[in-house]
Amino acid sequence: MDLKKIMEAGLQAIESADVLETLNDVRIEFLSKKGALTKAMGQMKDLSNEEKPLFGKRVNEVKEALETALKAKVATLEALKLKEDMQRDAIDVTLPGTKFVMGAQNPLVLIQREIETFFQEMGYKVVEGDEVELDLYNFERANIPHDHPAREMQDTFYIDEHTLLRTHTTAIQTRALEAYAPSVPVKVICPGKVYRRDDDDATHSHQFVQVEGLVVGHGITLADLKGTLSLFAKRMFGETRVIRFRPSYFQFTEPSVEVDVSCHICDGKGCNVCKHTGWIEILGAGMVHPQVLRDAGYEDPKLTGFAFGAGAERIAMLKYGIEDIRSFYINDKRFIEQFKRYE
Ligand code: PHE
Repeated sequence: MDLKKIMEAGLQAIESADVLETLNDVRIEFLSKKGALTKAMGQMKDLSNEEKPLFGKRVNEVKEALETALKAKVATLEALKLKEDMQRDAIDVTLPGTKFVMGAQNPLVLIQREIETFFQEMGYKVVEGDEVELDLYNFERANIPHDHPAREMQDTFYIDEHTLLRTHTTAIQTRALEAYAPSVPVKVICPGKVYRRDDDDATHSHQFVQVEGLVVGHGITLADLKGTLSLFAKRMFGETRVIRFRPSYFQFTEPSVEVDVSCHICDGKGCNVCKHTGWIEILGAGMVHPQVLRDAGYEDPKLTGFAFGAGAERIAMLKYGIEDIRSFYINDKRFIEQFKRYE
């Protein structure tokens, strides 16, 4: 093939190629070591010495022309491919995004956090413990000795003779006291799950959440307890709430009180929620029994303290008007989602 024909055929092939792969074939056919141009060079040996440089020059011109055309066409096809790719993969930024369903906090968790936050603001430290507890910390150190009838107040799941599922978060407090002794002040808030043998119904559960508080120091009195719980009641149920103490009995406090808050539904006038008394019982409390302090390692008889314990479910039920305690545990989305606004 003479050079002119090679050039024409090459340019024609480049021109008509419409995909990059074809262009590569063209390059191999015309410009590679075994391509048409290299073959044409074979004619060189038959030429005279005068013709040789001219022919060489001509070969180079053809080579350059083909390379230039090839390069230009590669660029064109690449640009075209990019454009096509971009069109194919284009994202319509105006389309609506994927909707993620937001979860909501269980109201029980919300109440627990709210209580913790209130006491943390007053300088309390949040302390947690294990749900599997020793009899020693759950009962003995709470001044509830073996075979004492007070144990019947808290029907217990025993794991073995000395180990049980804690029946109250007082177990966290007796441990905290031991860890702090003999230093004061102690100001702890102890939230956690507790367990009692109980038949589950709308108001009873074999497992529930308690939040207990404990303060030990010099000159702590029942008045401090009342002031603290009064603020607590206002924070949970509204600024106009007041509380009252009624005498009660717990082994680990002396004196012991039951704490009522004026009804937040009827403002104390009497309604179904407060059973027409104007008052709702919200927690148990009292001054820490001296024996509890001694057992924990506090020898100074002048030290005093107060403790209180509330059920998180009960407070949540009262606050949000929930009627069945089991609603907290069955994880019904329709129930839980109602509390989104309280986050
Ligand atoms: N531990 C008691 C209960 O489970 C509550 C309580 C705590 C009472 C602290 C007084 C003081 O019922």
